[in-house]
Amino acid sequence: MKLILLGAPGAGKGTQAEFLSQRYDIPQISTGDMLRVAIKAGTPLGLLVQQVISAGDLVSDELIINLVKSRIEQPDCVKGFLFDGFPRTIPQAESLRDARVSIDAVIEIDVADEVIIQRISGRRLHPDSGRIYHVDYNPPRRAELDDVTGEALIQRPDDQSDIVKQRLQVYYKQTAPLISMYKQWQATDPHHAAAYHHVSGMGSVDNIRQVISAALGR
Ligand code: AP5
Repeated sequence: MKLILLGAPGAGKGTQAEFLSQRYDIPQISTGDMLRVAIKAGTPLGLLVQQVISAGDLVSDELIINLVKSRIEQPDCVKGFLFDGFPRTIPQAESLRDARVSIDAVIEIDVADEVIIQRISGRRLHPDSGRIYHVDYNPPRRAELDDVTGEALIQRPDDQSDIVKQRLQVYYKQTAPLISMYKQWQATDPHHAAAYHHVSGMGSVDNIRQVISAALGR
């Protein structure tokens, strides 16, 4: 199973990815998580991308495409994988087609901007595992502490409201065009194209999980 989760920042991609990755026993490949790990470790990649991410802009296509190419060559990807936050530009999507990576389904999670702002402002993250919480909608058992390790949760530096507005603008300009690209591909070449599913991300985490499961149908 090879899946793409598409959607604006804060739409709930990472939240749903956790469940899908377990259900299909495939690794979740979050380019955002990979970049945050590099920043935390202070690697050359991390130093290169830190400012771009803090400003709410996108990292270069070349860098991301190389990162993903080497990730999907790892042995845990033989059964498939789930892309969370990739592709995010037309060139990134084209790189998959050029490499003949055949995607089974693209799931677009669609959420109104005002809800996104509420979700992101209450998000908390366990940086080492990538586990995601929300202070009201998905709180940890003990406030500000990870359920599994008991370690402190953080707020992402790019979750400040002015940076979130910039990330939304970048999404509409550079990532949203992928929606019509995948829809058109499905309409013109249904045998080879990924199945495209539009899912409203406006319900509870459980409801959205059920809608995605039904859409995937297996
Ligand atoms: P990345 O980490 O991918 O961020 P993003 O796409 O902006 O998405 P988010 O992680 O913010 O949100 P999400 O949709 O996963 O929502 P979540 O599940 O956490 O990328 C960060 C940066 O890295 C980018 O800005 C860019 O600079 C760079 N980058 C990454 N990939 C790149 C690429 N391919 N090319 C170039 N640059 C790249 O949910 C949000 C909150 O809502 C949580 O608190 C959650 O608990 C809550 N929540 C979720 N679902 C619900 C629900 N149904 N009801 C109520 N609350 C909910």
